[in-house]
Amino acid sequence: MSKRKASKPILSQPDTKRPDAKPTVTIAIDFGTAGTGYAYCFAGSDVIEAKQPGGQDARKTLTNILLNDDGSLAAFGYDARRQYSETGEGLFFSNYKMLLSNVDGAAGETMAQALNGKRVRLMDVISKTIKYVKDEALKECGRALPNGVRANECQWVLTIPAIWSDKAKGFMREAAYRAGLIEEQDSRRLLLALEPESAAICCDIGQLVTAGQSFMVLDTGGGTVDITMNRLQSSSPLRLHEVQAPSGGPWGSTFVDNRFEEFVGDLVGQKSFDALKATAYWIELLENWENVKTSQTADESTRTLNFSPMLEVLEDGVKLTDLVDTYNKTHGASLKMRGRSTIVMDAAFARRFFKNTMEKIVTHCEHLLGSDPVSYIFLVGGFAESELLQSLIKSRFDSPRCKVIVPVRPSLAVLRGAVLFGVNQDVFASRVARFTYGFATSCQYDPALPLHSIATPRVLEQADGRKVPYVDDIFAPLVKVGDKLPAGHVASRSGMCTVQKGQTEIGFRIYATPLGSINFTTDNSARQIGTATIACKADQSAEIKLEFGATEISARAYNEITGEKVQVQLRYD
Ligand SMILES: Nc1ncnc2c1ncn2[C@@H]1O[C@H](COP(=O)(O)OP(=O)(O)OP(=O)(O)O)[C@@H](O)[C@H]1O
Ligand SMILES: [Mg+2]
Repeated sequence: MSKRKASKPILSQPDTKRPDAKPTVTIAIDFGTAGTGYAYCFAGSDVIEAKQPGGQDARKTLTNILLNDDGSLAAFGYDARRQYSETGEGLFFSNYKMLLSNVDGAAGETMAQALNGKRVRLMDVISKTIKYVKDEALKECGRALPNGVRANECQWVLTIPAIWSDKAKGFMREAAYRAGLIEEQDSRRLLLALEPESAAICCDIGQLVTAGQSFMVLDTGGGTVDITMNRLQSSSPLRLHEVQAPSGGPWGSTFVDNRFEEFVGDLVGQKSFDALKATAYWIELLENWENVKTSQTADESTRTLNFSPMLEVLEDGVKLTDLVDTYNKTHGASLKMRGRSTIVMDAAFARRFFKNTMEKIVTHCEHLLGSDPVSYIFLVGGFAESELLQSLIKSRFDSPRCKVIVPVRPSLAVLRGAVLFGVNQDVFASRVARFTYGFATSCQYDPALPLHSIATPRVLEQADGRKVPYVDDIFAPLVKVGDKLPAGHVASRSGMCTVQKGQTEIGFRIYATPLGSINFTTDNSARQIGTATIACKADQSAEIKLEFGATEISARAYNEITGEKVQVQLRYD
């Protein structure tokens, strides 16, 4: 395609994807690495109820799913863990959200491995998770209404780590669609909300932060630590500007568990450890460990851990006391035994499980605050319940210029804030572009241009029969990385037309690159994120628009003459 002036203005059209009826209820789902919960708020009410899927407690349940051998759902949450530890039967999954933090290639093909080694598509595991939570939420919300409530009467919000790639976000949208939350994959009745931003909305920032001040939200969950930095524009209505693109890493509380796992491996040896992990006793041991981890204080008290589940898998004649002795000798540790199955560790030994993970969090925050100081740090997420982490973050960052705030129930902040975001989607007044976005175009070859001189032109026959050389794959930028994008920002290029005889459509291939500018879409840094194809004849022209929503980007191509429109869900591939 090449550029020429549009011959007719484009008529604006109603957005057919926005459902007309107001939602009866806004339901947010926080599918976390460690825990999953939902919260809801009925239209016209300001009461937010957080619930455990499958129960009535206002806390998350475990993100554990048990599938039958035929792939159907057997149980979810604490029930799944209980059932599996009682029977040892079925396909038991935990920690599967983390598989999405690094997806590349064909995300739909990513597999999750059950505890017994069997593999199932991650998409099936996650969509079954979301479906379960959806069904529970609808049951709960429907109780209060004479005719119940259906999925298409709800505004859904699904929380996602801010640092996830567009591909991972696309994966979650598809999983939500398969789970029946929405009837069309790109429906606006599903909003993807960034977890730390949701938490910020919940943290009463309007009360604490004054207009013009910046704040950081440090969402320390099970898998990821996710950090956003915003400046408050106004508190009523709440309007935020992004100061820096989100950042973070895999430094959540489950990485503390990983250190524990390594310790168990070192203690019992690889063979026994593999045997242990293939059984439900491992889950029991992790349960014991969870109690120790979550009650870890910053003082010098000793910690005791009941290892009795492990005794079940030790080979005949092997005693835990002997294993502990050997461990002490080889690692210079001073673990002690109480009875035949309880290990006593001193405070310094117990803190070592946390050290590496917590240091990574602090180092990263120091780096961020070095370039953008903030007036407040809100520490949220389940890991923020840790006294050890709270005291470390406070000791490093709390000062008269920067206050560290830990809200009440930090582990529910994401969920409650996500509901508020669903109700008021205009909270984010602007964002910082994560990538440079643009599309591939072709230009008539011009030997005077240095850029063209390095390309191999392609001779194309024009509608009037002329033969004209063209250079393909030229990157036409629409938005540059780091640009400040107001909410709902639309970047567009009009007047694009066909390049050769017989061409009946224009395919806008959309690319993202982390670099500020590139010349060609064939650049190694560029990734194609979607294609919008619109019918377009030789005497017509087309326009491409990228719309930057709250958390996602959609592309639309228009035929500027006929008004025909194509909207594409960016395919994230
Ligand atoms: N007092 C505590 N000390 C340490 N870790 C804790 C404490 N309380 C909860 N956790 C941990 O917090 C995690 C759950 O937090 P949260 O619910 O925020 O995570 P998530 O949303 O499941 O994970 P993510 O946001 O990374 O996907 C679990 O790993 C749990 O062990
Ligand atoms: Mg979380």
